[in-house]
Amino acid sequence: METLFLKAHNTNDIGQAGAILRRGGLVAIPTETVYGLAANALDGAAVKRIYAAKGRPSDNPLIVHVSGFSQIAPLVKEVPDAARKLAEAFWPGPLTMILEKSELIPSETSGGLDTVALRLPAHPAARAVIEAAGVPLAAPSANLSGRPSPTTFAHVRADLAGKVDALLDGGDCQVGVESTVVTLVGGTPRVLRPGGVTLSQLQSVLGDVELDPAVLHQLGEGAKAASPGMKYKHYSPRAQVVLVDASPEGYARFVNEKKGGWALCFEEDLPLVELPAICLGSRYDGGEQAHRLFRALLELDEKGAQTAYAHCPMQTGVGLAVYNRLLRAAGFTIVRPKGPFVVGLTGPSGAGKSTIGAQLKRGGCSVLDCDALTRSARVYDEACIQELQAAFGEDVAPGGTLDRKELARRAFATPEGRAQLGAITFPRILTQVRRVIASAHSAGVPVIVLDAPTLFEAGLDSACDRILTVTAPEEVRLTRILERDHLSPEQARERFAAQKDAAFYTSRADYVLDNGPGAGWEEALRSVLQELKGEAAKRL
Ligand code: TXA
Ligand code: MG
Repeated sequence: METLFLKAHNTNDIGQAGAILRRGGLVAIPTETVYGLAANALDGAAVKRIYAAKGRPSDNPLIVHVSGFSQIAPLVKEVPDAARKLAEAFWPGPLTMILEKSELIPSETSGGLDTVALRLPAHPAARAVIEAAGVPLAAPSANLSGRPSPTTFAHVRADLAGKVDALLDGGDCQVGVESTVVTLVGGTPRVLRPGGVTLSQLQSVLGDVELDPAVLHQLGEGAKAASPGMKYKHYSPRAQVVLVDASPEGYARFVNEKKGGWALCFEEDLPLVELPAICLGSRYDGGEQAHRLFRALLELDEKGAQTAYAHCPMQTGVGLAVYNRLLRAAGFTIVRPKGPFVVGLTGPSGAGKSTIGAQLKRGGCSVLDCDALTRSARVYDEACIQELQAAFGEDVAPGGTLDRKELARRAFATPEGRAQLGAITFPRILTQVRRVIASAHSAGVPVIVLDAPTLFEAGLDSACDRILTVTAPEEVRLTRILERDHLSPEQARERFAAQKDAAFYTSRADYVLDNGPGAGWEEALRSVLQELKGEAAKRL
């Protein structure tokens, strides 16, 4: 079949795409999530061609794309309140809602279900094509079935040129993973597929929202999937993908023992990893990881990779979508290298970390006070003292004996001084922390906790399998440090200003515990601890 190449910024081309769709043709179109392969959603025969072009099982229903909220009313039995609220908050955008369908939706589009998936995309070209077509568009991702979804025009072309009527070039997709799918049919709203709109964003609008078990677990043989798409092998590059759940250090130890293969990893892993690597961005930036994920999977193919060791992402925020796709790309194989299971305990000043640390200790964890370790003689050995003198002057250690007050006075005077001090001491602290971790591990302690206010600054997070952030409202934290450290309000504010803000810590956490008044952290901590112990048990 001859395929027409069109440009999204060209109005004539948009008009042409619309005309092709109106008469029952197929056009690949850009959206903010991934490219979609569109057909008139109300025309069963047109929709059938999508399945044929993709090689997609026809019981897997398609998402119907509209260009305005008012267009959904005729497509569904009724528009529930929850749908209005979600649309208000997240449309246009990477969210798909499932509602009971009307007679207008043919069974080819709904995969034989009596529900329909609806989305109002944010990409202007996608909306313009829907407008030009004058009909809602059914559009699954524009990949051959089973392959990673295309987020660049080159990848769409590679999969679909010659198989469809037209391809509309709109450059690279911004979000990078497919929309969040939430069903509003029957009981509590439930996420069937995580995406760019996060679970907590949905909860902030709807209250209770559940995560379908199929998001994180392989369905048992013969089990019925709420979302049929969940049951197929998905997102697979040709390379075999192995997910490795470990700290950056643990991950690097694991992959560096391999004779070949590729590392699919985070920025923070790069200095540690010896295999050729493809980077997904920072370990703490789920959005960036999502943006790069599918392109990275396809790049593995381009490089001819046979095996890829993917570092397990955090499951918070958009990270959950990245984890969900990687799990499927890996066919649910997760490796947990043997070794210590380390949890970083951190948070802003006055959040009440020590209370949590003490409770973790009672719960059987080994808790390492990294601040105390920072002052230990093992860190300030002779070589260290010489480096400090070279950086800050002889007087920081008269006669070779460290004068902590003088060192603090000089080093903390400027941001550069602080950085210089860190450059000298942090690697030594890390060495000491590794030593203590190793000894706790060989003593059989299951969960080793690093209590470290400067977990990230000191690079201690590279030893952490999980990160637990403790936080509390700013006013509460302020009151606490006033009382505890006998500071003036001004000094306390200054200390806050010198620190990262609370959001810095919470956005880098696997778990966030609110230790404010009445937050009931005890119960939350019990369940976190139980989960941590469960994870740790898998490392033995
Ligand atoms: O971001 C996206 O959603 C992209 C772009 C092109 O909009 N589209 C997309 O479509 O990812 P597709 O067909 O690859 O994925 C649709 C997912 C599948 O997992 C499918 O099983 C599920 O949504 N789905 C569709 N209709 C459903 C329904 N009525 N009930 C349950 N799941 C449904
Ligand atoms: Mg798809």
